[in-house]
Amino acid sequence: MLPRTPLHRWLAVALFLLVIVWYHPNFSGSSLADSSSTTSFSHTGSSSDDLAWVKTLLKENSIGPEIEYAARTIRYVPDATERKSISEVNQNLFPQSFTNISIDKKQNLPSSRLLDVHVKHSPRPDQVDASDLIFGVSTTYDRFSKEKTSPMKEWVRWLTDGNGHTNGAGLILSLFNTTEENLGKAAKTLEDVGINATVVPSNMDLDMPGRYVDLVHMLYNHPTRPSRKYLVLIDDDTFFPYMTEFRHTLNQFDPKKPYYIGTFTERVDWILQNGAPFAYGGGGIVLTAPTAQKVVEAPCLEKNAEGVYLLASDQGDRLLFNCLKAHTDITLTYLPALHQEDQFGDPSGFYESGIQPLSLHHFKSWHHVSPAKMHTVADACGESCFLQRFQFLDNYIISNGYSVAHYPQGINFDPMQTEGTFGSANEDDPNRNELVFSYTFGQLRKSLNNTGKKKSWEILGAKKEGDGRVKQVYLKRRGDGRWLAESEEAPMRDSVVVLTWIP
Ligand SMILES: *[C@@H]1O[C@H](CO)[C@@H](O)[C@H](O)[C@H]1NC(C)=O
Ligand SMILES: *[C@@H]1O[C@H](CO)[C@@H](O)[C@H](O)[C@H]1NC(C)=O
Ligand SMILES: *[C@@H]1O[C@H](CO)[C@@H](O)[C@H](O)[C@H]1NC(C)=O
Ligand SMILES: *[C@@H]1O[C@H](CO)[C@@H](O)[C@H](O)[C@H]1NC(C)=O
Ligand SMILES: *[C@@H]1O[C@H](CO)[C@@H](O)[C@H](O)[C@H]1NC(C)=O
Repeated sequence: MLPRTPLHRWLAVALFLLVIVWYHPNFSGSSLADSSSTTSFSHTGSSSDDLAWVKTLLKENSIGPEIEYAARTIRYVPDATERKSISEVNQNLFPQSFTNISIDKKQNLPSSRLLDVHVKHSPRPDQVDASDLIFGVSTTYDRFSKEKTSPMKEWVRWLTDGNGHTNGAGLILSLFNTTEENLGKAAKTLEDVGINATVVPSNMDLDMPGRYVDLVHMLYNHPTRPSRKYLVLIDDDTFFPYMTEFRHTLNQFDPKKPYYIGTFTERVDWILQNGAPFAYGGGGIVLTAPTAQKVVEAPCLEKNAEGVYLLASDQGDRLLFNCLKAHTDITLTYLPALHQEDQFGDPSGFYESGIQPLSLHHFKSWHHVSPAKMHTVADACGESCFLQRFQFLDNYIISNGYSVAHYPQGINFDPMQTEGTFGSANEDDPNRNELVFSYTFGQLRKSLNNTGKKKSWEILGAKKEGDGRVKQVYLKRRGDGRWLAESEEAPMRDSVVVLTWIP
């Protein structure tokens, strides 16, 4: 039996509720309207700060204000037993489809419903301890400092915790033909973001391959070397998206034994041309101390009277191999999860293949992507969900951090095959791509460029919003011909997808 309640109490309660609604208009909004179940209630997932960030991002890229828009809030549940290449989600990604909005008139982003996905638990960048690694790189101050080539944004992702502190990894930055002043500036730039670097001038008497091999000396002689397990040679455009996985993989190689670990080019034609099983430098080359010691002690850089290396090579990675071959019995330990990325043109087939590449390369030259932006989502669902794919009932596939792709005629292809979007930059033989890349990627499936069978929103920006929360903005430009069939008319509006990842 309920106790009797006097009428004046009811009136007081009603007045109280009226006051709440009156002074708090947002309270009666959609955020509570359809909270019918735990997996599909509406979730605004955005404060006005986030909206300001999205508005600025779009403005900076000359998008809008009239746009087509869809959003989803994705809760990652770290209970999966493995990191799958593609995870099927038994729901639509956009049950509410797209709406037309004028972004500048919005006070609030339209609400997005909550969705659960299951991922394998993996560390975020601020949980990585990489103190057993030291990296060595040789470049110029110009490349280091120019916006277009500077590796700083990327280095922050895998050499720090993202909060201004080192993750323990060491870095030797060897700069060619650089003034004292610029060496100091570079050191300061690195220190300011928390990268624990040693900046040194490279030996002016050495050419490029010589400077590369000289890095081995610097790594071996670094004061912290006794506490490092692996010495890693990199290019200034090498990126390590999965630092913890990388370390786990390396841990199978005893650091007290001589190891020379690396990867080949993805192109079998170049492997044949070069005719030697050497580690290609862009993917990263890992040495253990006993190997580095042998390189340091061997006459790797000896030249003949004409100034040509006795171990003839005009490439640093090849010169290193020639030296190991001539002076030691150490051979390559092949680690194909490292990637040289020797493909040209549209790289989406690679980044949308569900791959977990331990290194990325050439993303500022032979193809163009922004790994720092792409990788931001690792601050939410952990490193292993980066580039992981999620497939939905409404024929969308998220390649996390890279794209959200829609296949309006259905996913009637094998997503385990890599889409052959990229090329070999050698167009005389149309079958050449399939031939040269099958070595690494297996049989490629046909590119959907210009067929209308694929519409893709590519990452435009990403922002960490709080602990374990990341917002991503993906964009499909209205004029992008890649997504149109031959006679298909271009859409009227740029189209924006916002995904918010929450714990
Ligand atoms: C309602 O939401 C808007 C946008 O988020 C905010 O600016 C405003 O202050 C909110 N109003 C109240 C009463 O909380
Ligand atoms: C959005 O507006 C465009 C014209 O700008 C129109 O063609 C399209 O059908 C509209 N979409 C929706 C979902 O209303
Ligand atoms: C070193 O830099 C100076 C000035 O920037 C330039 O004049 C010179 O040619 C450079 N030397 C080499 C070997 O590149
Ligand atoms: C950076 O590395 C040096 C050794 O090179 C070490 O002494 C120092 O403690 C490190 N700094 C931080 C902040 O970890
Ligand atoms: C897509 O196809 C069009 C014409 O068929 C071509 O001009 C364009 O270069 C292709 N784009 C890519 C990225 O392959």
